[in-house]
Amino acid sequence: MWVRNAWYVAGWSHELEAGRILARVIIEQPLALYRKTDGQVVVLADRCCHRFAPLSMGRLEHDDLRCMYHGLKFAPDGRCVEIPGQKLIPQSALVRRYPAIERGGWMWIWMGDEALADPASIPESIRLDDPAYCMKSGQLDYAAHYLLIDDNLLDLSHLSFAHEKTLGLDMPQWADERPRILPLERGLRVERWLRGQPSRGFMKRWGETLDLWNSYDFLFPGIFLLRTAFYPVGTAERCKGAAPSEQPLFLRHDDQAVTPITSRTSRYFYAAGARRDDIDEDRVGRLFAVVQAAFNEDKMIIEAQQKLIDMDPGRRMLPTTLDAGPTQFRKLVQTLLEHDGQPGPVANATARAG
Ligand code: FES
Ligand SMILES: [Fe+2]
Repeated sequence: MWVRNAWYVAGWSHELEAGRILARVIIEQPLALYRKTDGQVVVLADRCCHRFAPLSMGRLEHDDLRCMYHGLKFAPDGRCVEIPGQKLIPQSALVRRYPAIERGGWMWIWMGDEALADPASIPESIRLDDPAYCMKSGQLDYAAHYLLIDDNLLDLSHLSFAHEKTLGLDMPQWADERPRILPLERGLRVERWLRGQPSRGFMKRWGETLDLWNSYDFLFPGIFLLRTAFYPVGTAERCKGAAPSEQPLFLRHDDQAVTPITSRTSRYFYAAGARRDDIDEDRVGRLFAVVQAAFNEDKMIIEAQQKLIDMDPGRRMLPTTLDAGPTQFRKLVQTLLEHDGQPGPVANATARAG
């Protein structure tokens, strides 16, 4: 049902304050997160091995976590180090520990076999604390399966309709153009030109319309690394539809992550911005307000879609050419499920650096 051998975004680093215990659920596994006194993140199963009280309701004692039901105390590696009134601590007195890594404000947790947790396989997103960038971050909870959110991100044709008043305003090309889709080891690369799109706000200084190169890597479980580059009209023609090599007028970064919580709940993390040389705080704020309005539009339609799916789960959907990205990605997810988080031999043969 779930791919365990994968990195999942558990939250933003700033959510986990020193001295606080954060309760999270990822792929139906309850987790208790806290920081050691040196700041390092600890993630333990949020279920005391004694009588299953949540450790997130416990108390931090230096680097250890004490269950506040009957007082068992656990070290950061998950071993029980104290049982009140009992000298002998059995070896089975432990809770599971999960590898966790922070990368520029993103908090990642490995949900599978600890021996397979390779930090090098964490996708590269823009660091929220990178002084060269001005990024804003947010999150949204969904009452929907994570793959419905992935489907949405893998098919941006919906911008012309679901976001007709926000991100897709006066942009019917989103629905009319089919992107190029390339396989990656644990996802897909999706790219396209949108020609002669209306320029907005501060971009109007470059003309009423601009060509737009939209390219993203979409990686399991729902890591969306989008780059949108704006060019003078005519650039797409000159590039003959291929990726541009010249410098854009403006490059926008959108890094996002979908994290499955349960089969009907998910959390969507998003960050948006650009290089400080290209944008100021105020403009990022305005850009971010549009993004947030658009994400609420997604949430409304996806949650409503989930309800209808659940009313008649056996009903088949009608495939169209719009679905190429979601269909290919779901095949990859199936392969990961069947191979315990490892991409199959076919995906490996076509792998590109992600
Ligand atoms: S349930 Fe945790 S100490 Fe009893
Ligand atoms: Fe959307």
